[in-house]
Amino acid sequence: MKKFWKENSHEAYLWAAEFMNYPEIPFGSYLREILRKTDVVADVGCGFGVPALFMSSLCSRVIAIDQDPYALRVLDQEKEKRGITNVETRLGQWPEVELEPCDVVVSFYHNRFAETTDNVQKILKIGKRAGIMTSQGPACMPTLAEKILPELGLEAIRESCQNGCYAKSLLETAGLKVECRQITHDFSQPVRNQEEAAAYISSHLKLGEEHQEKLFQILPRILIWKEDQLVIPIIRENCLLTWERSC
Ligand SMILES: C[S@@+](CC[C@H](N)C(=O)[O-])C[C@H]1O[C@@H](n2cnc3c(N)ncnc32)[C@H](O)[C@@H]1O
Repeated sequence: MKKFWKENSHEAYLWAAEFMNYPEIPFGSYLREILRKTDVVADVGCGFGVPALFMSSLCSRVIAIDQDPYALRVLDQEKEKRGITNVETRLGQWPEVELEPCDVVVSFYHNRFAETTDNVQKILKIGKRAGIMTSQGPACMPTLAEKILPELGLEAIRESCQNGCYAKSLLETAGLKVECRQITHDFSQPVRNQEEAAAYISSHLKLGEEHQEKLFQILPRILIWKEDQLVIPIIRENCLLTWERSC
């Protein structure tokens, strides 16, 4: 199984999710529209399970799948803390993971979810009624990397519209009627101080010791205050794809 998250990265992620009210923003209204109380939902690439735990009150059961055992350990702890009993964690690699048919298939911020026809066939096999997923969309605003790396004399490679339309066309070729919306999601990272911000940015942008001095110089221009909290502004630009099957 592959490791996706760095050890202890859940603390920052869960803090950001709570502070930015994720996944209510930006997915709450879509999930309430799609999910029914009796549904079994497969959440593929569930990570620490923030959306899975949110969905647990909107459906009968969530199967939360991820390749990273650490992510599922954190999710199991969160389930227990909150007394949630209808979320089942399953360690596996998409699309090979063994999965029974479900009513709805969900995948947020797992960009390779619908990247091949094999993946789409698996989506059709398991998602009987509906689906909702994000796919990296056209980046219109500068990303964190684009704001910081040029100032450090490094190149920021723009990953514009990685596969939003491609995923949509694969799903449509397989016979699904897909709706696509471009969404801008503010998932800013709260931090306690500049040191914590520098550590977070260095880890995410893989910056070595040689860039630390310059990074600290530019940080005051990068960091902002939101509701009395210091944050690293992070804006995600994605396509949100949804479909319902007529059966
Ligand atoms: C950016 S996180 C998103 C987590 C979660 N969906 C959320 O919105 O908070 C992407 C997750 O997808 C998982 N992932 C990526 N590729 C995967 C694959 N092929 N099979 C299973 N999990 C995968 C990673 O381990 C990671 O936990």
